[in-house]
Amino acid sequence: MESSFITFLSCTQNNIMNNENKNLIENLEQAGMSRRGFLHGIGGAGAFLGMAGMAGNAEAAKEAPKDADGKVIPGFEKTKDDPNAAKGWRSVSDRKVKVGIAGYGLCKFGGAFFYQTHPNVEVVAATDLDPGRCAALAKAVGAKKTYPSCEEMIKDKSIEAIYIATDAPSHARLAIMALNHGKHVVSAVPAVFGFEAEGQAEQLFNAVKKSGMKYMMNETSTFHADLYAKRMQCQAGALGKIIYSEGEYWHDFGTKGLRSFNPKNGKIDLNGWRRALPPMWYPTHATAYYVSITGGRFTEVSGMGTAGLYPEYKDGNNQHKNPFGTEVAMLKTSEGGISRMAGSWDMKNAHGEQGRVYGEKPHDKKINGNRPPLPPSITPLFPALRSSPTAVQEPPAKSKRTVPLDAHHNFSGNMNERV
Ligand SMILES: NC(=O)c1ccc[n+]([C@@H]2O[C@H](COP(=O)([O-])OP(=O)(O)OC[C@H]3O[C@@H](n4cnc5c(N)ncnc54)[C@H](O)[C@@H]3O)[C@@H](O)[C@H]2O)c1
Repeated sequence: MESSFITFLSCTQNNIMNNENKNLIENLEQAGMSRRGFLHGIGGAGAFLGMAGMAGNAEAAKEAPKDADGKVIPGFEKTKDDPNAAKGWRSVSDRKVKVGIAGYGLCKFGGAFFYQTHPNVEVVAATDLDPGRCAALAKAVGAKKTYPSCEEMIKDKSIEAIYIATDAPSHARLAIMALNHGKHVVSAVPAVFGFEAEGQAEQLFNAVKKSGMKYMMNETSTFHADLYAKRMQCQAGALGKIIYSEGEYWHDFGTKGLRSFNPKNGKIDLNGWRRALPPMWYPTHATAYYVSITGGRFTEVSGMGTAGLYPEYKDGNNQHKNPFGTEVAMLKTSEGGISRMAGSWDMKNAHGEQGRVYGEKPHDKKINGNRPPLPPSITPLFPALRSSPTAVQEPPAKSKRTVPLDAHHNFSGNMNERV
């Protein structure tokens, strides 16, 4: 594993997350959306996976995507209801950003972030290469216009922002193209992919700089309740230097593998980009447990992997030349700490996105770690939206801003409850 590759991935994530309160908000303010409105949006976007995930209407939301063994993909499981998810939300703008959405594959991701029900968004167009999936996406998000490809949709001058929920290998190329056409861009994870990742990251970064537009990667771990609470701690300077952090994305793909877009035949099948995927080409759910909490980055890496359990990994004889089903990276952080980040597609009894972070100073109970409220137009679709102890548990009577300590001391426990 190349250190520069990991550094670039973390940088990309860092830019996005670190600038969430700065560039992205500033940008949407420039575009007419208020800071507050954007925070609601990002809450809606990022939190969805922790609740149930899936398509953008109530009907579709009942069907969680499953792997070939019939198991629900981690992050899409149904979780507990939170009646207070929209509490405290207030509208601050009538402005609607015109958005085009691309991609309705295995995870029906184009409909999954609820842009279509956000009060400050108008989804004007939808696209998928497959006509059937394109029509289904348009229906799910209420888009009047459809395009045969994201590339065609990007040329539509009336669209202000593009959400790219296509296959991982296509994100960077489509994001750069959209930025070059003067559009703001959100993409699903990861921002860059594969052997080309390092070059793509550079190009993406340059496209953002040159266009003056904004790029955001929707890292869903960022809005897990426990991560978000630690992020608030860090932003308040409460934890001091983060000495050690660790994150994991465990998802046993099973003997049959996990389907994904296969560009050779246009289908969602077992020979798509997820076949024999190197776990650390998909690191962001894990690395968020440092990057999204601190806004920092990784500066050095040393990685190890184990031979994949399933036949497609044998001798690295696959499209990605990858023999590893489980990978672990030891990383040095920009503040001089260390991290262990890991991904696995073949371990038994290992499941979900989770992590832990430990600083020089103890967790400050007085800091409010609750995630921002969501617009009421989003929450009914996903009543499970704010399912974590952080959000569900009432704050102690004396301090309304206090986050329950238990919600932070056992990240793993919280995450397991969620996924
Ligand atoms: N927790 C998370 O953040 C999370 C969870 C699941 C999936 N994802 C990400 O979401 C994305 C989508 O996942 P998926 O499983 O649905 O993907 P997929 O591979 O099953 O489907 C991708 C879809 O994109 C379409 N597509 C490809 N190129 C296109 C183009 N140029 N124009 C229009 N449509 C195009 C394909 O036809 C296909 O329907 C992936 O990048 C994945 O990494 C993230």
